[in-house]
Amino acid sequence: MKIKVVIKNLTELKQLAKAFAETLKTPMIILLKGDLGSGKTTFVKEIVSALGCNDLVTSPTFTLLNCYHAKYNIYHFDMYRLSSAEEALGVGFAEYFDKNTLDGICFVEWPENVQGLIEKPDFIIEITKNGVNTRTIVIKGEEQ
Ligand SMILES: Nc1ncnc2c1ncn2[C@@H]1O[C@H](COP(=O)(O)OP(=O)(O)O)[C@@H](O)[C@H]1O
Ligand SMILES: [Mg+2]
Repeated sequence: MKIKVVIKNLTELKQLAKAFAETLKTPMIILLKGDLGSGKTTFVKEIVSALGCNDLVTSPTFTLLNCYHAKYNIYHFDMYRLSSAEEALGVGFAEYFDKNTLDGICFVEWPENVQGLIEKPDFIIEITKNGVNTRTIVIKGEEQ
């Protein structure tokens, strides 16, 4: 399945995140693509909130991984500072991308930087910034 939505503001992003959150289950791996500032972290933040966790969601750019305990365990990765799958394996990320050991949902920003690490994502989300507050969001479901 593939859907394309144009959203006009953060309120519409929140609504989309809530509807998308209802389709999630565990284990799942979700890739987020799009330029810096397109809204990848903001989308994860709204999903974490829709799943009932009130923690402050911040960008994992420097920590590489932030975890949240919502309806499911949420693992929010940012691979921006990594440059290969080997580097990601070197910091112990392998268990998160193996469906046999994953006990929650992984969201991964900048998956392009760790080519080959994630073999079977469940969704690929691509965000394009059209204006200050408008975004085009394409959600592609990968058949397993
Ligand atoms: N409709 C929208 N969807 C997503 N982000 C938006 C939207 N409108 C404005 N923004 C703002 O754009 C910025 C997106 O930043 P962020 O989520 O950190 O991007 P990324 O993680 O892709 O680098 C945030 O400051 C957010 O408030
Ligand atoms: Mg981000």
